[in-house]
Amino acid sequence: MSFEKNILCIGAGYVGGPTMAMIAYKCPQYRVTVVDIDPERIAQWNSDDLPIYEPGLEEIVKAARGKNLFFSTEIEAGIRESEIIFVSVNTPTKTFGAGAGMAADLQYWDKTARQIRKYSKSNKIIVEKSTLPVKTAQAMERILTSADNGIRFDVLSNPEFLAEGTAIKDLQDPDRVLIGSTQTPNGLKARDVLVEIYSNWIRRERIITSNIWSSELSKLVANAFLAQRISSINSISALCEKADADVEEVARAVGMDSRVGNKFLNASVGFGGSCFKKDILNLVYLCRHYDLKEVADYWEGVVRINDYQKERFILNMLNIMFNTLANKRICLFGFAFKSDTGDTRESPAIFVAKRLIEEKARVVITDPKALKNAMKDLESIAGEIAYVEDPYEASAGCSAIAVMTEWAIYADLDFKKIYRSMDKPAFIFDGRNILDHKKLFEIGFNVFPIGKPGLTHF
Ligand code: NAD
Ligand code: UGA
Repeated sequence: MSFEKNILCIGAGYVGGPTMAMIAYKCPQYRVTVVDIDPERIAQWNSDDLPIYEPGLEEIVKAARGKNLFFSTEIEAGIRESEIIFVSVNTPTKTFGAGAGMAADLQYWDKTARQIRKYSKSNKIIVEKSTLPVKTAQAMERILTSADNGIRFDVLSNPEFLAEGTAIKDLQDPDRVLIGSTQTPNGLKARDVLVEIYSNWIRRERIITSNIWSSELSKLVANAFLAQRISSINSISALCEKADADVEEVARAVGMDSRVGNKFLNASVGFGGSCFKKDILNLVYLCRHYDLKEVADYWEGVVRINDYQKERFILNMLNIMFNTLANKRICLFGFAFKSDTGDTRESPAIFVAKRLIEEKARVVITDPKALKNAMKDLESIAGEIAYVEDPYEASAGCSAIAVMTEWAIYADLDFKKIYRSMDKPAFIFDGRNILDHKKLFEIGFNVFPIGKPGLTHF
């Protein structure tokens, strides 16, 4: 069967996999191939046990896989046979050399550009899907055209805005799709090809175009603004705890102003995920590079408040539990960085678990989807850590429960049964404000939400 377009995606991760599955599902006329250097990941994409958990993902992968959606390790063939290549490799924070701990590590992206140059035999449109520092498209173009072999590469920026846990919904019905291109005739022609792909299922007015540098920068700024809202409300949660105010009431009053809006104002133990911290630090690094110290300091504050919030959570636990956690069993409800995903990258639970172990507590971790990743995250930590899928079993014999992830199942548990099985006095630290605090207090728990007065029997 011949297809209208051959699309390749390099990088079969949390973005590449779901994004390409959606394109294939919505556009049976295109052949979509996703390649990765990690053969194990590709084998999982080809199996019944997909490498990532995401509601609705399995259904669309199964509907398209083997028809017009293919997962493969054949990078060379994939590059040769495609006209459009999405690059969706990881761009973590650099851990070495200049910019360590701040700048984006571009080695995977650089390697990909060189592979594309090496194996291409015909003109291609290259789409930056990964989140990259502004001006990366220029570097990409320089690498690609350095072979001087007459092959034309048009580089576009098309950042991804999906959030994990709602990736399929976000891809199906995005607030916007952003496509940045150079404003040359070739750049605009390439842009229109990508607009046409998305137009298969997204209304035209939701597909916005811009110059390529604005597009690259918009992605970093969008994440910085979202994270800033969380740090703003988290900073106020600390004040609420001192002033006997209730952060949810404050957030509701502030968020009902339509100029502010009510989303992303849930106070928490801190934001996690692979991108917020890395993208803000990347933005900060860029600002410092351009000598914009005040701007850099301003955005760095968002990350500082997040670190402060996580540390505050632990210090509160320590203080409230009579200044010692040594030998106490503490159960973490949830380990994923948010609900509806098994992803634990930068999860506040990693920080909390490590700090509890430092205090010589015994840690029990329960999570419906993230236990495998939790074990990997904590494998180098010497200390007593147990992994138990059933929350009743996990919390039995514990002195405290700390809610780390807002999994809906936790709100519906039988807390009378849990209370009976725990060591007394029993504490609950609700790092996500998802439980019925008054009811828990009436059962007998000492309850400490975020940004609200604690309910204690002492
Ligand atoms: P990921 O680590 O899950 O996936 C990246 C994949 O790229 C890995 O499987 C890796 O093996 C592969 N890879 C690396 N170098 C390669 C190469 N040379 N050839 C082939 N494969 C290669 O990362 P992710 O979460 O999918 O993120 C990818 C990019 O998208 C990042 O820039 C991230 O900032 C951005 N992003 C992520 C999300 C998210 O929710 N995770 C959302 C929007 C944007
Ligand atoms: C975020 C953005 O929402 C996406 O638009 C973006 O594409 C993505 O980063 C990315 O670039 O990787 P994600 O990190 O998957 O998506 O999930 P979010 O829903 O943004 O949550 C991030 C963290 O903030 C989670 O730990 C969540 O629990 C926390 N959060 C969120 C709060 O603590 N309070 C809130 O009100 C909202």
